[in-house]
Amino acid sequence: MAKKILVLSGKGGVGKSTVTVCLAQAFAEMGKRVLCMDADVGFRSLDLIMRIGAEAVYNWADVISGNVALDEATVKKTEGLYLLCAPNSLSDGVNGEGIEELLKKADESFDYIFIDAPAGFGELHEALAKVSGLVLLVATPDAVCVRSADTAISKALRVNPKAETRMIINRFKKSEVLAGRQLKLDDVIDMTRTQLAGVIPENDSVRLIPGGAPIAPTAQKAFDRTARRLGGEYILFSKRYFS
Ligand SMILES: Nc1ncnc2c1ncn2[C@@H]1O[C@H](COP(=O)(O)OP(=O)(O)OP(=O)(O)O)[C@@H](O)[C@H]1O
Ligand SMILES: [Mg+2]
Repeated sequence: MAKKILVLSGKGGVGKSTVTVCLAQAFAEMGKRVLCMDADVGFRSLDLIMRIGAEAVYNWADVISGNVALDEATVKKTEGLYLLCAPNSLSDGVNGEGIEELLKKADESFDYIFIDAPAGFGELHEALAKVSGLVLLVATPDAVCVRSADTAISKALRVNPKAETRMIINRFKKSEVLAGRQLKLDDVIDMTRTQLAGVIPENDSVRLIPGGAPIAPTAQKAFDRTARRLGGEYILFSKRYFS
């Protein structure tokens, strides 16, 4: 059965989609079969970030409506890494039950399903939170983002109190923390009361623009270590994040 990971933030633009792709890639490189489900209805981005072009023809609403089979709608990027695009809008027949059915179908084919949620928290998020085993918060270390992340995770836990929760702090920059322009990581953890799964540095190479260069080794290492922690390994955090 696939582990379903809902990637959530509250505030927009904090790096959910980027983190989703980089983590999914890290799991695929560990030999897992991973599906990235773009849940940002009307504002899909995973096809661009994953550099998938014209092959992205169908979306998950097509599968729920019965227009195409799941394996027809998923696009293979590399060995073990697959994408399921978001629709442009949701028609009446596409509801929480449909999403649950869809993910049940995907259960047998994948080890991990990353669900890249849009910003905010509404009905779609509720439906996705209900079927997810892990809610993965992505937050940048600033007060506005952290408060919205705390609100989002509280709402997710209200609909699914049994979900595991973890947090990734993205765009960390030590010099900004020392200058008082980013929150200390301990404070972010206290404010969200959520266990840390990873710290991703601010790094230009993480901008996965089509045709761009590969991710820098320091950032890649951060994604790899985060994926391994999410996979159950115990990996210490570098002291420099906290001192
Ligand atoms: N660690 C990082 N270092 C540098 N740039 C980053 C990092 N993480 C994300 N970005 C950049 O931040 C921007 C927003 O990222 P992304 O689209 O992944 O955010 P999002 O939370 O999915 O946004 P939305 O809420 O609109 O879906 C992108 O330009 C991305 O390349
Ligand atoms: Mg996004």
